Amino acid sequence: METKERNILNVRDLQVQVRSKEGLFTLVKDINFGIEKGKILGLVGESGSGKTVTSMSILQLHDRKKVDIKGSITLNGQELNGLDNKEMRKIRGKDIAFIMQNPMNAFTPVFTIGYQFVETIRSHTSLKKKQAKELAIDVMQSVNLPEPDKLLKYYPFQLSGGMLQRVMIAMAAVLHPSVIIADEPTTALDLHNQLLVLRLLDEIRNKYETSILLISHDLGVISEMADEVIVMKTGRIVETANVYQLFDNPQHEYTKRLLNTRPTLNLEQQTITHML
Ligand SMILES: Nc1ncnc2c1ncn2[C@@H]1O[C@H](COP(=O)(O)OP(=O)(O)OP(=O)(O)O)[C@@H](O)[C@H]1O
Ligand SMILES: [Mg+2]
Repeated sequence: METKERNILNVRDLQVQVRSKEGLFTLVKDINFGIEKGKILGLVGESGSGKTVTSMSILQLHDRKKVDIKGSITLNGQELNGLDNKEMRKIRGKDIAFIMQNPMNAFTPVFTIGYQFVETIRSHTSLKKKQAKELAIDVMQSVNLPEPDKLLKYYPFQLSGGMLQRVMIAMAAVLHPSVIIADEPTTALDLHNQLLVLRLLDEIRNKYETSILLISHDLGVISEMADEVIVMKTGRIVETANVYQLFDNPQHEYTKRLLNTRPTLNLEQQTITHML
């Protein structure tokens, strides 16, 4: 993790503070990590530990008037912290994509999936509508979404949460971003869809060598998916370790406690293939 050059995404001395009448209040502090190409970094911690604050900082999605971000966030060597909205809009979706917990929030209800997919592609490329649609269909096919042509004609409310989440992941992957940040991508889903979504993320990582920051409070998910893991507690990182080390030999009391309350998730290939 310390070999800076190999890391696609590097976060150094990140500190996020919110301004209030009483002064500055620190949400996260001393956050340091990096993700290598094609690796999955798990970020775990109980509710309120600062996982989403951290991911929103990387994406520069905090309200600048209220939230102060210190430190360095580099993506392929480019500093993101402090870039203006216009610059960030060019980067988000193309170089770094975001998958949210609730897929409904990511789509506009009044437009079809196809319209939104095509517009996402067109906002970052010079493709014509028809070409963008072809590309959308290609990527949906490559991630095993059934009947992409038909799916594109639907409105968001016509799809199940699991299906919508998979479309969102296809949208996140379509421009082959270097990094995908997935913030609790499976929390709102039933077990069957959780498995499909996790398998899909793994396929994308394998196919495009995408680096993934996978945020979850579910250690079962992290143990199956991540290469390295960071554990957050009250806005700080308390432990960083290789996934095997973390689960076999946790160092921090907090990690031990998290591990003891872990639900298990069987992600064996056979199970998933059977469910597809
Ligand atoms: N804009 C903000 N202004 C003030 N406080 C905030 C703001 N955003 C987040 N917080 C606070 O920062 C802390 C960390 O929140 P965050 O959403 O990052 O937690 P989380 O680890 O993602 O939790 P969860 O697992 O529930 O999603 C919480 O106490 C939250 O209330
Ligand atoms: Mg969160």
